[in-house]
Amino acid sequence: MAGLRRFPGASYVATRRRRGETQRALILIMLVSGCAGPPALDRAIIRGHTAEYEEAMRADSTNPGRAYLLWRARRDGISADEAAKRDAAIDAARNPFDARRDRQAVSRGAVIYAAHCARCHGVNADGRGPDVLPEFPCKDFHSLGQRLAVTLHGGAPRAWFQRISDGSGAVVNYPDGPSTAMPAFGSTLSREQIWLAVTYLQSLDCCVKPQTE
Ligand code: HEC
Repeated sequence: MAGLRRFPGASYVATRRRRGETQRALILIMLVSGCAGPPALDRAIIRGHTAEYEEAMRADSTNPGRAYLLWRARRDGISADEAAKRDAAIDAARNPFDARRDRQAVSRGAVIYAAHCARCHGVNADGRGPDVLPEFPCKDFHSLGQRLAVTLHGGAPRAWFQRISDGSGAVVNYPDGPSTAMPAFGSTLSREQIWLAVTYLQSLDCCVKPQTE
């Protein structure tokens, strides 16, 4: 490698090469460490979180985002207005949760995912939920390429937040009525719920151990 330094651009070539080696090493680690895919939802969810969420949702059956903020207000001992204000202040460009370190957030995100997303994206985030339309398939978050992207740079959290919030695709007929292929959740989920769901998607890499609790 030392000989490379003799011509201009050599350090660039060497850096590129090192980066390539790191990626190859990562793929190898993923393959040999038995990284068979994302942890199934039931292994990601900490006991009690599902029941707690279902209970919270009862506060407002028409809007899960409002119900969630009422639960947050109760939990934090603040007013509903204050909870809504804090939620509105959450940055849309930066996930406040850390999928690698915060098991509680991953679990809460998995609960939200199970409640609002799995019917299309599938219980294993493989895009095989019962409501998915053949002409509008969901992405397979299971695929090696996806997990590699998540392992290397956390996936595309900012773009994901936006897609979940604004929806995307043509308007189609789902069993519960027409909506864009990826429905817009910006007015029915709080920002915190959306980031938690993203956190669950970000946990689908080889560095996050499945929960055992
Ligand atoms: C009614 C079915 C349906 C539901 C429910 C649904 N999605 Fe989607 N989602 C889709 C479809 C279909 C696409 C692809 C549409 C497109 O590419 O235009 C998609 C795309 C996405 C994408 C973009 C993926 C990418 O990088 O291209 C993300 C992220 C996502 N959904 C997350 C979620 C989350 C989180 C929830 C739950 C809060 C959810 N979705 C609920 C059908 C659904």
